[in-house]
Amino acid sequence: MIDPNLIVDDRKEVNMTQISKIGVIGAGNMGSGIAQKLAQEGIPVVMIDTQKDFVERGLANITRTLADGVQRKIIKPAQVDEILGRIRATTDLEAVADADLVIEAIFEDKTVKSELFKKLDRVCSDRTILATNTSSFYVREFAAQTARPDRFIGLHYFYHPAKNRLLEVIPHDGTSPATIETSLLLAKLHGKTAIVVKDEPGFAVNRFFVPFLNEAVRMLEERVAGLATIEAAAKRAFNIGMGPFELMNVTGIPIAVHAASTLGNELGAFYAPAKALQSQLQMKTNWDLSGDVDESRIAAVADRFYGVCLGVAAALVDEGVASIEDTDRGAKIGLRWLLGPFEIMNKIGIDKTYQAVKAITEKYPDFKMPQILADQKAIGKPFSFNFVDLAIKDGIATITLNRPEAMNALNETIVAQLETCFTEAEKDPAVKAVVFQGAGKAFVAGADIRYFVEKIKAAKIADIVDFTRKGHELLLKIETAAKPTIALLDGLSMGGGSELALACRAIVATPAGSMAFPETGIGIYPGLGGMLRLARQVGPELAKYYVFTGASLSAADMLALGIAVRLCGPGEVPATLAVLLQEELPDKYRPRDIPPQFVPYRRLGSPSNIAGLLAGKMPEGVADDIAARTLKSVGFKAPLALKISNEIIDAQAGRPMADAVAIELGRLAEIFSSADALEGLSALGRKRPEFKGK
Ligand SMILES: NC(=O)c1ccc[n+]([C@@H]2O[C@H](COP(=O)([O-])OP(=O)(O)OC[C@H]3O[C@@H](n4cnc5c(N)ncnc54)[C@H](O)[C@@H]3O)[C@@H](O)[C@H]2O)c1
Repeated sequence: MIDPNLIVDDRKEVNMTQISKIGVIGAGNMGSGIAQKLAQEGIPVVMIDTQKDFVERGLANITRTLADGVQRKIIKPAQVDEILGRIRATTDLEAVADADLVIEAIFEDKTVKSELFKKLDRVCSDRTILATNTSSFYVREFAAQTARPDRFIGLHYFYHPAKNRLLEVIPHDGTSPATIETSLLLAKLHGKTAIVVKDEPGFAVNRFFVPFLNEAVRMLEERVAGLATIEAAAKRAFNIGMGPFELMNVTGIPIAVHAASTLGNELGAFYAPAKALQSQLQMKTNWDLSGDVDESRIAAVADRFYGVCLGVAAALVDEGVASIEDTDRGAKIGLRWLLGPFEIMNKIGIDKTYQAVKAITEKYPDFKMPQILADQKAIGKPFSFNFVDLAIKDGIATITLNRPEAMNALNETIVAQLETCFTEAEKDPAVKAVVFQGAGKAFVAGADIRYFVEKIKAAKIADIVDFTRKGHELLLKIETAAKPTIALLDGLSMGGGSELALACRAIVATPAGSMAFPETGIGIYPGLGGMLRLARQVGPELAKYYVFTGASLSAADMLALGIAVRLCGPGEVPATLAVLLQEELPDKYRPRDIPPQFVPYRRLGSPSNIAGLLAGKMPEGVADDIAARTLKSVGFKAPLALKISNEIIDAQAGRPMADAVAIELGRLAEIFSSADALEGLSALGRKRPEFKGK
């Protein structure tokens, strides 16, 4: 690890532009959580409620959640005061007058919300964007209360908003593109995975989640099975920890009734609340979860859940409310389902899905078979998913790796889609440059480890070599393209992600950007040219240090080493790219001086120290603490992976890139056939691997 004292922490100095103050109205469950999350991510917030007591209750909520975070070691004690220091809590609405964006999270009451928006419209500056966190009203109805419908949007958070990463971003027809852009930037700045959803009842997630709850009650009412059986069937069908009845007990039966009533009023009887749900509300008691599970009824109950949830998910995609991928993302991130509805459809098969939904259309005449399902059944194939998006604006093609739920990990599908998007961008005469970015918190967190494990276990190492060869071909194309290629590192990158970034002609980083090569710690070596390209930029010794230790390069490190050409705040990315592209990009393989703070680490990678490290000896010529730390870190890595990495970095030196790639590819079957590769890859995230050196 680079000595932290030697690195300037530039995080606080970077100008976020555009977003420097957010208002949150309502200090209840949602408002306090939203304010907390924003403050946690470094954004100043003003939190407002109608009475001092309510404001204080909101602050107490935040303090309690932060204390819990400290106890669970997610937050450092010293951070608590810093976070609280970013929250101004008041009853004075004028305090949000100069906010960049105001998020309303008050009672779910149309009149109260409308009145508030009229006031906010008067109080706030012209440039302030107003947002509602409503769950059941149209965004457009509140936008119409203001003289700024273009600067009005829905931002629908999920409970607990400081913990659940999903954010539904809901423009109405009159929302301006700039407002959508700022909202997406805000989402990114406070670590949310945004899905853009149409202003329709239930938006995306509640549209199928509420019927999931409701159908559970209907099955109970019809005596399809007992409550415990319905609960168990739901948990197994969707791989979730809590079934519908327990969820209602936790979040409140009134919310379920209210949500189902709204959907029913807008969308018809199929969505209306079950009678037993309304009676339960009147009884003011929670569901009694006790009882035995009747295994013989599980399958029938699961089919009914599938019919309803998968049918509704397909219907909302049919209506253009959200994409297939965002609907799945909503379920996985927002509801913590293991698979999204469309992934479930693929898993159980399109025929079974069709039959389950057909049964629902027969039971509820106002629910029609979604066209997308009928079409897919006719094709007889699983749904395919788009995980890479291409957007062209002002001559810049932006290719977004969009699988944030898996930190955009590379697999066969993603690499193929990346190739398709890149080829299209390269061919398009309107495109002057291509920018690669990752959706969500990460740029790309490496390759899909599960894929490797499956292939090793199936004795299909040749497939891994083939996949890697294709990856290399694409990266070489990106590196040598006539149009400039730029990686925007605004989140962490590891392994394959860092290798993709290094293949681009230039890297632009934000303070959240980082690069690392953790492969030797999981029994393999960086297989997509990372060692080759890093060695060509900063020299073989420093490259060996990073590959041997897996140490992370921060954005500041990358800038200092000339690996990144620019470091800017997240709000400054478009302007930075525009300026950069007017200049000639520097040759990324130009000779360079290594700044003094990196010299000890370069020394660690010298031939004598590397030989020593491989033999478990303390490195020489550097401070004792650095030497000890490095030896310890290298000691946890797979010896064979270290040895081969070392040999590859030496063998490729001075060779043309194509030869260097061939050298690297030539060792791939060897490393993936090793016992240590299987050990390291399968241990990831579970335990520390035990390497045997073979
Ligand atoms: N609870 C959830 O799971 C959830 C999820 C997504 C969205 N929402 C939506 O978020 C909003 C808030 O829900 P909640 O659960 O936090 O409610 P809550 O009852 O916990 O909090 C609402 C707060 O708003 C305050 N308030 C009411 N009128 C106000 C006004 N005019 N000005 C300032 N403050 C005012 C109240 O005093 C209260 O503290 C609702 O629109 C709800 O539909 C809730």
